[in-house]
Amino acid sequence: MYTRILGTGGYLPQTVRTNADLEKMVDTSDEWIVERTGIRERRIAGPDDTAATMGAKAAAIAIKTAGLEPSQIGAVICATTSSKNAFPSSACEIAGILGISDVPAFDVAAACAGFSYAYAMAHSMILSSMCDNVLVVGADLMAEACDPSDRTTIILFGDGAGAVVLGKSDEQGTLAVKLSSDPSFAPLLKLPFPSRDGSDAGHSYLYMKGNDVFRHAVVVLSRLVTQTLEMGGISPSDLDFLVPHQANLRIIAATARRLGLDMSQVIVTLDRQGNTSSASVPLALDEGIRSGRIKRGDMLLLESFGGGFAWGSALVRY
Ligand code: ACO
Repeated sequence: MYTRILGTGGYLPQTVRTNADLEKMVDTSDEWIVERTGIRERRIAGPDDTAATMGAKAAAIAIKTAGLEPSQIGAVICATTSSKNAFPSSACEIAGILGISDVPAFDVAAACAGFSYAYAMAHSMILSSMCDNVLVVGADLMAEACDPSDRTTIILFGDGAGAVVLGKSDEQGTLAVKLSSDPSFAPLLKLPFPSRDGSDAGHSYLYMKGNDVFRHAVVVLSRLVTQTLEMGGISPSDLDFLVPHQANLRIIAATARRLGLDMSQVIVTLDRQGNTSSASVPLALDEGIRSGRIKRGDMLLLESFGGGFAWGSALVRY
């Protein structure tokens, strides 16, 4: 028994925040942002957008693309660290919006690596015969978690949601999944909940020591992609596309170089979407498929890295 991606979907809020908009908010420039990150614009959630509403929109498309009805979904997993509520989970809310009930539904928190974790959980649930089709959503609103006056973070993040339906299959789709973490780097990348004593006036913002995170991300991802290919028993030349987490174009380019891939074999969305945290890999995958670049049978390497540190990957024949 194997697992295979049956369908994908994505949702982006309408409001666009360009680098020119950011020049009015903080001391920065379009030139600096493009050169250091590759980002030109990102989408910002509207007042009615939540991880669950955005996730449900992406999920509805993924289920339809898979050729399934919501009643055929056997579990809902939502990767997010920006749920509106501690509970109900965004996964339960998504299930409610889509009319899915009486199935397992839960959130997974692994910051920007969340989608890889959720995908691996779905894969394991199917292989253990718990269910046949799992809805895997990545949805985050990280832009509002950034201090609007902090030029080191506010330029990076955007909002959105992506979704995948992973299903039981006779054909091998998922060849390998790998997850890991290293808590010793926790202080470099944090998003605390508001403090209980009210000392932060109910606000807490994302903190990132960007250049340290950058250096570790490059090293970890380089090791991760090599390990994942070894687990799957394939060589880099067998890969058709890298579908990376979209944090920084220089990190993505370094990972592609490690694999000997040309940038034409890398799905890049961050120029228009920024870093959408848990949503970035499924959004990139969905765009790659919808644009016709990724075709059935292509060999894909999905990878992500984020706070924790936590990281993960999936080697997939689409
Ligand atoms: N505009 C202009 N100047 C800026 C800006 C800005 N927006 N931000 C920082 N600078 C300045 C700094 O103050 C510093 O100035 P100084 O030299 O006078 O002190 C200079 O630019 C260089 O700063 P660095 O932080 O060293 O810049 P770097 O090249 O590392 O780029 C960045 C910063 C883009 C954040 C990069 O480090 C990065 O992408 N890091 C990794 C992000 C990541 O992968 N995160 C993980 C996922 S996120 C999650 O899990 C939620």
